Amino acid sequence: MIKDVLANLLKKRSADELIATSKKSELKKTLNVFDLIVIGIGAVVGTGIFTIIGTAIQGGPEGVGAGPAIIISMVLAAIACVFSALCYSEIAAMIPVAGSAYTYTYATMGEFMAWMVGWILMLEYAIGNITVACAWTGYLAQLLKGFRHILPDFITQFPIWLRLDYRGVLTLCNKYGWDIHDKIPYLFDKIPVCINLPAIFIVLVLTVLLVKGIKESTRFASIMVGINLFMITSFIVVGAFYVKPENWVPFAPNGFSGIFMGAFLIFFAYIGFDAISTTAEETENPQRDLPIAIIGTLVICTVLYVCVALVLTGIVPLGHIDINAPIAHTMRIIGKDWFAGLISVGALCALTSVILIYQMGATRILYAMSRDRFLPKSLRLVHKKHRTPYVLTWVTGILVIICALFMDLNISAELCNFGTFTSFIIICIAVLILRKTDPDRERPFKVPFCPYFPIAGVLTCGGLMFYSMKFLKNSTSYFGLWLLVGIIIYAGYSYKQKRLEDKKRR
Ligand code: ALA
Repeated sequence: MIKDVLANLLKKRSADELIATSKKSELKKTLNVFDLIVIGIGAVVGTGIFTIIGTAIQGGPEGVGAGPAIIISMVLAAIACVFSALCYSEIAAMIPVAGSAYTYTYATMGEFMAWMVGWILMLEYAIGNITVACAWTGYLAQLLKGFRHILPDFITQFPIWLRLDYRGVLTLCNKYGWDIHDKIPYLFDKIPVCINLPAIFIVLVLTVLLVKGIKESTRFASIMVGINLFMITSFIVVGAFYVKPENWVPFAPNGFSGIFMGAFLIFFAYIGFDAISTTAEETENPQRDLPIAIIGTLVICTVLYVCVALVLTGIVPLGHIDINAPIAHTMRIIGKDWFAGLISVGALCALTSVILIYQMGATRILYAMSRDRFLPKSLRLVHKKHRTPYVLTWVTGILVIICALFMDLNISAELCNFGTFTSFIIICIAVLILRKTDPDRERPFKVPFCPYFPIAGVLTCGGLMFYSMKFLKNSTSYFGLWLLVGIIIYAGYSYKQKRLEDKKRR
């Protein structure tokens, strides 16, 4: 009995079997390399560069800032990502199947680890989406404030209980000495009511779009990415004329610890390029296009980020950076208020595309898990007309909405980082395993300097993750709890469900 259970836990799916399943896929193959890069940039450029960069430069309650040396932090974070990106590229080109790290783990480490990786990926995609949806609300509020002379007050200053979660309202009340009972309504005089209305609105709209079709969704994302890239490039070009090199001195005010903490924080800005590999089954020529798109996205984003950081730190003296909207604020400093407004529009577009692509990623991973019979059959229904996994798309959208009602923004961002670090580490290990267990399979793309590069990926991602865990006690415990819940669901439901469905199919 124990032997059987152990055998099941370690049971792998062969790469051939995975590829055969994907060939039967009902998902439409419509994506080309351009679409993939759009998905990549759309998933990567967002909260990190528009918001988190401020704290990474200047420091926050949990750690010191990097100062202008943020550009070194960015390169460090990019290096940690590049090793994993190369590993993603090798496996994605070799096994072009939906499900990303989840599927690759199934082929290398067996059923239980695959389930856990799928579960951990939900931290990256679904929980990460909560952070971005809430940041979306923040930028909308900023933008509307800019129209306070034209629009009525109930639009430009809508109540905080309609745009924050309870904890967010509580923090503001403590900060400004407000009475919380004046700020939020109570149901039956007991239950506080806080609804992040804009976050719910944007997630609902994007869910509908995702159900309509992946091509329609990427077309929409490409418009968002276009606007966002235009804004960022304009920021760099316009801002470059106002840079004062003396602001770059001192270059690294907090030395190595500032640079390292900055690298941990700015890592969030790089998360997302792996979303490209979740769409492998919907790509016309995955073997050729996936590696180009993954590495291309990373290079484009690193160049943009470094330029943004140089301009920002060259204009705003350290200590004067606005940590809520650092880029828009930089434009205000040089007297370009109208441009600051445009930057908020760019930020909204960037965040919209991140939410869209993350929700698509979460859905595709759950789809792969459901097709492997770990989740109820009803979840893997594909829409007859649009050929999208519409039930899962709605389930994911509704879950994000529910969590956005009470989740703490910072914790969800940190959890998202932990989930991503873990999946990156696993991907690097998977490459090492597959090179040993399946050496003859055709690899259209190969990680150079193997095993050194995958090992470097494990060390850099593991190093950043364990370094941050020393400081982030709360999210470290939530991460442990998340893993425990994953084990309980697997043991209590998915393990049996899979055996049951496998038996029926025989
Ligand atoms: N990289 C994504 C962002 O910065 C998660 O919003």
